[in-house]
Amino acid sequence: MSAVRMDGKALSAKVRGSILAETAALKQRGITPGLAVILVGDDPASQIYVRNKEKACAECGFYSEKYALPAETTQQELLDLIAQLNESPQIAGILCQMPVPAHISEQAVIAAIDPRKDVDAFHPVNVGRIMVGDFDFVPCTPAGVMALLDEYGIDPKGKSCVVVGRSNIVGKPMAMLLLHRHGTVTICHSRTQDLAEVCRRADILVAAVGRQGFITPDMVKDGAVVIDVGINRGADGKVHGDVDPAVMDKAAFMTPVPGGAGPMTITMLMKNTLKAAKVQHGL
Ligand code: GUN
Repeated sequence: MSAVRMDGKALSAKVRGSILAETAALKQRGITPGLAVILVGDDPASQIYVRNKEKACAECGFYSEKYALPAETTQQELLDLIAQLNESPQIAGILCQMPVPAHISEQAVIAAIDPRKDVDAFHPVNVGRIMVGDFDFVPCTPAGVMALLDEYGIDPKGKSCVVVGRSNIVGKPMAMLLLHRHGTVTICHSRTQDLAEVCRRADILVAAVGRQGFITPDMVKDGAVVIDVGINRGADGKVHGDVDPAVMDKAAFMTPVPGGAGPMTITMLMKNTLKAAKVQHGL
């Protein structure tokens, strides 16, 4: 039996449609959500992500500003730009595409963004608020995963949820969101002993490792829900997930790559930007 494919492209289109409708209503009240996207350097993958973020803004009826800065930009120049955007009334959300060049501190950049405009939810204030369960912004990739689970009627409550990967962007916040929904959560990583055995216990398995085909069928319980957050450029030039496609025959539900978790991430960024605009206008 083959797993149900969890269609992130379709859900994304649906959510963007509802964001566009809400934006239209906000515009009637003189509010246009605005997003500033900063890209430092010329990483080709980052350029694609930034372009897709601009396209998504247009689709949702948002105002957007893009700042493509040269790789030699100093940290101070970047912090000055962020300070200026923090004060800009047109800008509800600020996002600096990661990674930044090595001479710039990622932490300094994140800390410089006004937490009320931190639509990535990377700022320590927002990370803390997620930890205690009182937050406006949901980290985009984990938020997209939760939206997919909800769309397919999958409730984490009481289930064994295993997250493979412990990054600040995906693994850690993913674990928190599943925990808030009453999942029994295990976080695995490169030092985990008997990783396959831990993964086999999962009712919901989230792979956020960054290695093509890392999760093989022997690591998956029959009938599990498998969420693949991986975006790996293969030797064939195509994008591959962290999960071996053969897992499709074992899982009950699975996200394809591409077209699963990926499209949801940017849509959740749009949702955070809309939320930022509303909060900043006291709505
Ligand atoms: N680089 C990879 N993923 C992300 C993301 O979600 N936000 C930002 N700002 N940079 C990224």
